[in-house]
Formats: sequence, C-alpha cells, structure tokens
Amino acid sequence: MSTLPDRARRLTVVLTLLAVSAIVVPNVISNLQTVQKARAADAKRSRGHRSPLSFTDDGQLLQPRGYRRWVYVGTPLTPNDMNGGQAAFPEFHAVYINPEAFAAYEATGEFPNGTVLVKELVSVATKSATSGKGYFMGEFTGLEVAVKDQTRFQSEPGNWAYFSFGHELPLAEQVGRQAVASCSTCHGASADQDYVFTQYYPVLRAAKPAK
Ligand code: HEC
Repeated sequence: MSTLPDRARRLTVVLTLLAVSAIVVPNVISNLQTVQKARAADAKRSRGHRSPLSFTDDGQLLQPRGYRRWVYVGTPLTPNDMNGGQAAFPEFHAVYINPEAFAAYEATGEFPNGTVLVKELVSVATKSATSGKGYFMGEFTGLEVAVKDQTRFQSEPGNWAYFSFGHELPLAEQVGRQAVASCSTCHGASADQDYVFTQYYPVLRAAKPAK
C-alpha cells in the first residue's frame, strides 16, 4: 500500500509532467506547422508551374522534395582512386532539373527564370559487379541546389544562388545561401553555359535546339 506522502509525490510528478508538456508540445506543433505551411505553399506553387522550392521568411531554403521525378541530366563522378585518394567530392553527382525549366530549355536553349538544378550525391558502394569492374552506386549521401531567380537573387552573379544541405546524413532541413566565392565563382568561370556545367550533361546538350 502506498502511503500518503508517496501519493503526494506521485501527484507532483504528474503535475510537473503536465506543465512541461503544456510548454513543449505547442512549440513542437508550431514548428511542425511552419514547415507544413511552407510545404503546402510549395505544392500549390508546383501545381501552378512556378518554382518548386520553398523558402522561410528569412530566406533559408527548405530541403527540396520530389526532385527524383524531375528530368535527370547526367551523373559526373570524381572517384577517390583517380584523385590521389582524396577527391573533394568522391560520390556520384546525379543532377536533375525541374520539368518546367527543362521544357523552356528545349524551346529556347536558355535556362529560364525559376530554373532549379539539384545535385544528389550517391556513394560509390562497390567496384565490381557481374558485368565487370567499375563504379556502382550505393546510398544517397548529400544534396546541393542551384537556383536561378531574378527577383529573389537579383544581386547574385547571373541571378544564381547556391545551397548545400551537406555531404553526409543527416542532411540539414533548411539552409542559407552560400557565399559567392564558395560556389558561384567557380561555376561562372568554368561552366559552359550560364553557370551550368552543360558540358557534362548529355541530356541538356541533346535537348538544346539547333541554332
Ligand atoms: C572548383 C569549382 C566548383 C566549386 C567551388 C563549386 N562547384 Fe558546383 N560544380 C562544379 C562542377 C565541375 C560541376 C559539374 C561536375 C560535377 O558535378 O562534378 C558542378 C555541379 C554543380 C551542380 C549541378 C548543376 C550545375 O550547375 O552544373 C550544383 C547544384 C552545384 N555544383 C552546387 C554547388 C554548390 C552548392 C557549391 C558551393 C558549396 C559548389 N557547387 C561549388 C564545380 C564547382
């Protein structure tokens, strides 16, 4: 049988738990609601054929969703064993473009306002298969995004902004724009067309209309 002080102590614990959840739960719910609201706006926008991305009020980009259903453009690979064991990015880089931008590119040969390129990193899992020796894809490990937006990124070179969600799981849920010197400068200097490395994307080269 529990004594009276015991019961009083139990009651105190229950009341404390109730008080704590009254503070914590609404916070968690409100955070969830912010993300859900941004995602709902995101879904609405994609139906309206506009940018498929969502930004927070302070300009952070939420991790994009659904890009594996976009148009795939190519997969560069800089494996460790061809880079002295230390490639900057030893993973496969699977690159996708949003379908609206792809359609515009097919028509005009230019990247329209609202172009999004997603580069998804995939580890090299094994180097031999029944088909022979080579590089075979393993797991998703990272995500980077390039966005062309003449309004939002008016003062960025070429109106392109760059975002990195990380190269290892777990990826960031939302991130701020990278400094120009970290990403854009190299893209501007070495990419074949409008900051995009079309020289490595056969799908885009094939889609470009002949002049
Ligand atoms: C030293 C040059 C260099 C720097 C710096 C650089 N990139 Fe790239 N990036 C490349 C090259 C080369 C490719 C294409 C080949 C590949 O993926 O390896 C590429 C491809 C991409 C793509 C695919 C679309 C495209 O434009 O071709 C994205 C997205 C991207 N980079 C994001 C970033 C982000 C984000 C940063 C900064 C954190 C960054 N890059 C910094 C050289 C660079």
